[in-house]
Amino acid sequence: MNAKIIMSEGTNMSNKANLLSVQFAIKTPEVRDSLTRIVKGLKGFSLQEDKNTPRVDILVLEIGESPESEFETISALLKENVVETLFLTSARMTPDVLLPALRAGAKEFFQQPINKDEVVEAFQKILLKSRRNDQVGEDTTRLGKIFSVLGAKGGVGTTTFAVNLAASIQARDKEKLVALVDMNILLGEVPLFLDLETDTDWEEIGKNFSRLDAAYLQSAMARHSSGVYVLPAPSKLNTETHLPSGFLFQLLRSMRRFFDYIVVDSGMYIDDASFKIFAESEAVYLVSILSLPCLINVRKLQDSILTTGGVAKDKIHIVANRFERKAQISLPEASKIIGGNINLTIPNNYSVAMSAINNGKTIPDIAGSCDVAKVYKKLAASIVELAIERPGGLFRWFR
Ligand SMILES: Nc1ncnc2c1ncn2[C@@H]1O[C@H](COP(=O)(O)OP(=O)(O)OP(=O)(O)O)[C@@H](O)[C@H]1O
Ligand SMILES: [Mg+2]
Repeated sequence: MNAKIIMSEGTNMSNKANLLSVQFAIKTPEVRDSLTRIVKGLKGFSLQEDKNTPRVDILVLEIGESPESEFETISALLKENVVETLFLTSARMTPDVLLPALRAGAKEFFQQPINKDEVVEAFQKILLKSRRNDQVGEDTTRLGKIFSVLGAKGGVGTTTFAVNLAASIQARDKEKLVALVDMNILLGEVPLFLDLETDTDWEEIGKNFSRLDAAYLQSAMARHSSGVYVLPAPSKLNTETHLPSGFLFQLLRSMRRFFDYIVVDSGMYIDDASFKIFAESEAVYLVSILSLPCLINVRKLQDSILTTGGVAKDKIHIVANRFERKAQISLPEASKIIGGNINLTIPNNYSVAMSAINNGKTIPDIAGSCDVAKVYKKLAASIVELAIERPGGLFRWFR
C-alpha cells in the first residue's frame, strides 16, 4: 500500500475553514458506511476525497491482509506530517495487529463492528484538543505548569495532597516560584494546614484583576516558610462582588505566566471552569481511598473529565491515599472497579498526617524521612524533572 492509495478513499469533499478534515482508507463497505454516517453527524469535521490533498487532520485506516507493509506506510505518513491524527480499524483485534498499530502512532483503534460511542468520543477528543490549541495561542512550553488535585469524596486527603505536593515541589527546586491555590469556596483549609494568616483571597484578587501582574500577585499572596505562595478561597460569600464567569480559569491562566508550578486544591468542585482548568493542567490527581463508594466515584469522575472535560487520559493520575497492603480491597480489585490503573499509592500514616495538620506544618517538616514524605518527594522529583525534559513519543496516550 502506498500513500496515494491511503489518501484516495474518501467521500464528500469539503474544504470549509476551521473544520478538521477527515479521510477514510477503508475497504470494507459496511465499515466505511457506518463511519461515514457517524462522522457526517458530528459538527466540526469535513469528510474529504481529494486524492492529492497535501495534509489531512484525521485519517481512519483499515488494516487489511498485509499489516507489516501498511504499518511502514503509516509511520511515514505521520513522520512527514501528511496525517495529523491516525485512527485504525480492523476486523482482527489480535496483538500482532494492535501492537504494531500503537508503535506506528495510531491514536485510537476502533473495533469492528463499529461502536458509535467509541468513535464519537475519539473524534470529540481531537476536536477539543485542536480548539484548545487555537485558544491558547501562546508558547505553552514557557508557561508555568498547573497540577490540579481533585477529591473523589470529601475527607479523602485532597488538601493534604495539594499542600504536600506544592511544598515538595518547592523543596526540590528552591529557585522556582510555586503557588498553591485553594478552590474550596467557604470551606478552604489551605491556610489552616500551613498556619498562615492571610487577608487576600482570590475574590479580592478578582476585584483588582485589571492590575494583575507578578508584583501585585506576590504581594497579595501569603508566603509560607517553605517558599510556596498561597492563594486562599474566600471564606464568606460576598454577594456584592460579581466576578465574571470563567474568572478562576482566567486567573490561573494569568498565573501561569508568573509561577513555574501552580498546585490547585480543587476539593470536590467540578463545573465548566474547573473542566477548563483540568484541560489546561499538566496533570489531574484524582485522590481516593480504597473504599467501594469512593472508587465508584473515581470511575464516574474520570469518565466525565475525559469526555466532558476533553482531558487526555494520560493526564489523569489516580491516587490511592491512606493505602494499606492488607486493605479489604486490593489494588488489582480497585483497578477493576475504576476501569484503569492506580497510578500512585500513599501509605496510611495517621499520626504523621494529623500531627502535620494540628501543627500547621507540612508532612516533610514534621517527619522528612517518613514513608509518606518519601512518596511526595519522589513525585515532586518526577514533576520537576518532567518539566525539564518532558517525555513525548507515541505511547504517552496509551498508559
Ligand atoms: N496518608 C495519610 N495517612 C493517614 N491519614 C491521612 C493521610 N492523608 C490525609 N490523611 C488524613 O485524612 C484526613 C482528611 O484530610 P484532608 O483534609 O486533606 O482531606 P480533604 O479531602 O481535603 O477533606 P475535605 O473534603 O474536608 O476538604 C485528615 O485527618 C488527614 O490527616
Ligand atoms: Mg480539603
